[in-house]
Formats: sequence, C-alpha cells, structure tokens
Amino acid sequence: MNDWVSINGAITPASEGRIPIYDRGFLYGDSVFETLRTYSGRPHALNQHLKRLRLSASRIAMELEVTDDELRRSIDQLLETRPDQESYLRIIITRGDGEFGLAPDLASNQRVVILARPLQEHPESFWSDGIHAVSLQEKLRWRGKRIAKTGNYLNNLLALDAARRAGAHEALRFDADDHLTEGSTSNVFVVRQGVLHTPDLAAGVLPGITRQLILECAQRLDIEVREQAIPRDMLEDADEIMISSSIRELVAVVTLDGQRVGEGRPGPVCRQLHGNYREYCIEHT
Ligand SMILES: Cc1ncc(COP(=O)(O)O)c(C=O)c1O
Repeated sequence: MNDWVSINGAITPASEGRIPIYDRGFLYGDSVFETLRTYSGRPHALNQHLKRLRLSASRIAMELEVTDDELRRSIDQLLETRPDQESYLRIIITRGDGEFGLAPDLASNQRVVILARPLQEHPESFWSDGIHAVSLQEKLRWRGKRIAKTGNYLNNLLALDAARRAGAHEALRFDADDHLTEGSTSNVFVVRQGVLHTPDLAAGVLPGITRQLILECAQRLDIEVREQAIPRDMLEDADEIMISSSIRELVAVVTLDGQRVGEGRPGPVCRQLHGNYREYCIEHT
C-alpha cells in the first residue's frame, strides 16, 4: 500500500485518513478538485492546475482560504513519502463542515485534502493501438454552460458507465443541439484534411490543461488549429479523433460507435502531437 493523504497539512496513509461525516464535500459534493500527475517525481503543470482550482471555486462562490504556496508545500511533503515513483495526485478542497443544512454559509474551515497514489501507467500499446469510443447526447447540456471541476461528477461518471457498458473506453458527449463537447474526463480533437479542430471553450467544456498544451504543440508543429463549434457530422468523415487528459496525455480514438475512424489506427497527427507533448512534459516538469 503506497497511497498517502494530506488532510489540512497532516500526512497519513490514505487508509487512515478521516473526514467528518458532516463535511459538505461528502454531503453535497460541495468541493472543487484537480487531478494531475508527476513526471520525474515533480507535479506537472501545477501552476495551471492551481489556477483552474481557483476558477472552479469562484464558479461555486467559494473563495479559497489556502494559498498556492501552502498547497505547493503540502504537495512537496506528500511526494517525499513516495520517492522514485511517478504519482497520481488529487487536490480536493471542500467547503468544510459546520451546522447541518444546505446553506453554504453554515460551513467554516475549508478542508484541504491531497491524495498521492502510484500512477497506474498505461502500456505503450494504449497509445500505439488507440481506444474505442461511443457517442452520447446529453439533452441538459447547452452551449455557454460554465463548467467547474466540482465534487459533483455524476454526469461524467454516467457517461463513462455508458461507454463501458458498450464495451468502449470513453464516451464522446454531445449537447442538446448535437454539438461535440468533451469526453467523460477528457477534451476531444478532430482532424480533417490536416486541420486540428476542437470545441471552443464556449461549447461548455472544461478548459483542459492538456488541451491547452496540445494546442501549443500544434502551433510549434505548424498544424493549423480551429477552436469552434463542432456539429456531429464533422466526426463522421474525420481522418482522426483523439482525446486528451492529464493522465492519458493524448490518445487516438480508432472507432466511434463501432465505425472505424480514418484508417482505424492512430493517425499521423495524433502520433506527432503526442510525441511532441511527451517531450514537452519530460523537459518542462
Ligand atoms: C470533464 C473533463 N474534461 C476535460 C478533462 C481534461 O482536463 P485536463 O487536461 O486538465 O486533465 C477532464 C479531466 O479530468 C475532465 O474531467
């Protein structure tokens, strides 16, 4: 067992971590979180993740009490428990606990929980073979919706469940107007005639840290990029589709709803971008 947790700065094995039953994160999902990984033992893109944590908090009217420096110190201390191994890190801040009730002002003392676990590395075949996806329309999703990464992840969980029940790895989600949004826990890219398309942030998608870094890789590689609304039919004759996330980096989707995407294997744009992204992460973390 090599999972460790820091709760308000106190580090214990994760199995011994204790959260009060009245913590609002448990009662209502009243929390924000970030998921990231290490490269060479150091947290990747930590500044960007801390910035997005604050953005998520502001979108649920929660002003974070902890400073970035305090979070950085806790993460460093936590990582000292796991030298020489790559880690999966989750930072969770709940609104805390207090008198029982729904009103947010009943809570005081936000709770800072940071979890460090061994990173479950995917085999290289994950990237060389690609993954299978299904499409999923969400009628209650619309353009312009402001997304926060909060403890309410039920829709994401249900999207992943739909994918797994269909024997796939990921669900590509569409809004009420049948425009592409994102995966269950990933952003999506579509390649057509050498141009890299991805839903713009106004599509109501999480501003993925990997998404942004992939767009920067594309710029370095002189790949034309368009951030725009993507109707479903743009995926039907796509040459390549791929998903991005901090843990999976960039992975090709080789079938969608059982139909081959392009040649049915990871395409040249995905391979080029992924290679460039890996190099960037190793050099800049
Ligand atoms: C809904 C959603 N979209 C996109 C992403 C990808 O974000 P990132 O690249 O910052 O990991 C995630 C990651 O968990 C997510 O949950």
